[in-house]
Amino acid sequence: MIALDPLVRDLDGEAVLLRDAGPIARVELPGGVPVWAVTHHEEARRLLTDPRLVKDIGEWGAWTRGEVPADWPLIGLANPGRSMLTVDGAEHRRLRAKVAQALSPRRVEALRPGIERITERLLDELTARADAEEAAGAPRPVDLKAAFAYPLPMGVVAELMGIDEADLPRLQELYDAFFSTQTPPDRVLAVLGELAELFGRVVEEKRKNPGDDLTSALLTAEDGGEPLTVEEVVNTLQLMIAAGHETTISLIVNTVRALLNHPEQLALVLFGEVPWETAVEETLRRYSPTSHVLIRFAREDVEIGGSVIPRGEALITSYSAIGIDTTRHGADAEAFDITRTTPIRHMSFGHGPHICPGAPLSRLEAGIALPALFQRFPDMALAVPDSELRNKPAVTQNDLYDLPVFLRS
Ligand code: HEM
Repeated sequence: MIALDPLVRDLDGEAVLLRDAGPIARVELPGGVPVWAVTHHEEARRLLTDPRLVKDIGEWGAWTRGEVPADWPLIGLANPGRSMLTVDGAEHRRLRAKVAQALSPRRVEALRPGIERITERLLDELTARADAEEAAGAPRPVDLKAAFAYPLPMGVVAELMGIDEADLPRLQELYDAFFSTQTPPDRVLAVLGELAELFGRVVEEKRKNPGDDLTSALLTAEDGGEPLTVEEVVNTLQLMIAAGHETTISLIVNTVRALLNHPEQLALVLFGEVPWETAVEETLRRYSPTSHVLIRFAREDVEIGGSVIPRGEALITSYSAIGIDTTRHGADAEAFDITRTTPIRHMSFGHGPHICPGAPLSRLEAGIALPALFQRFPDMALAVPDSELRNKPAVTQNDLYDLPVFLRS
């Protein structure tokens, strides 16, 4: 049994262990909760389209027998309330349809000017700061995550869903606690309660004064269709904000980090010899923003890869291991290499009916943010040795505390 480190001190080492124990491994989640993990590409493809694996937590024996405490630190991720993430079949299609429509590549393209505007504003702020420090003869490191990678995706998804800018600082604190394995049990339920209250308030306001946002659209019935209930809209809003910011922040942070650590590859993108999209896709594969997705449950015994996942047990999808599966990506799968000759066909947005509907949006955001950032600061450099960068204690995310850089060297 491989115990996932609640402090996420060595995500890369853990991914190798999981891959080598795969395709199906026994894993202990923080809090002593045993689950199965799929850690190879092909088996993940099969399991993520297998109707015997469902999202309904009522199928989890350990949960129904009371072996998993209600204040388990990961409960918000394992049991986030009724939304597209926690149902299957026709109900899943009903809860997902409008969100998927709103996030289609064509609709998302319309968000480009807004994303470019936020990007330019953030880069102007960074430039002003760099200029002032240079003039004072004292350039200081900037946390690129806080100053650039965080506000962009959070600003975009908040605007899409109609969340007020004034709520963003509090949301940041709540989501830190939401994703962390270190949140004390009595805080876990309080955080979930406050998130539900905040999103409940937003939904109530949109019900009274609908706007041009996706939350208002979710509250409106389609011709002849069943509208989503208020509770379903609240949970969908919570899901969209949770799924829509952390992941894209990590994508931007991890791409910058990987390129700064591989200057010869950075030069290739800067000189236009390798497209930015390739650098983004290689980061998605090698440093999957979602390291593990919780959680599906076996409604029947499922035989796969020489193992049987017994009925009533839980399965997680280990994307950090799947991205370095050598049978899929070759013997050098652990290398970050934007010049690799095999196509980068990763699964970091999931697969099957629950595949990420936000993929076009996050690709658009990264595709705007990264070239603009490096165009402004082409000789940016890490301000600390890479070995000093630390992951946050969030087992589902590949998420650094910070990314200190010198904007100009
Ligand atoms: C689902 C990854 C960005 C919204 C998923 C899943 C993965 C994933 C792996 C599948 C979960 C499962 O199998 O249960 C990512 C990554 C992203 C990203 C790596 C960025 C780099 C976004 C964005 C949004 C979003 C920007 C929204 C604006 C969602 C939603 C689901 C989902 C709503 C649930 C879909 C369903 O259950 O039908 N994402 N995501 N994601 N993602 Fe993303």
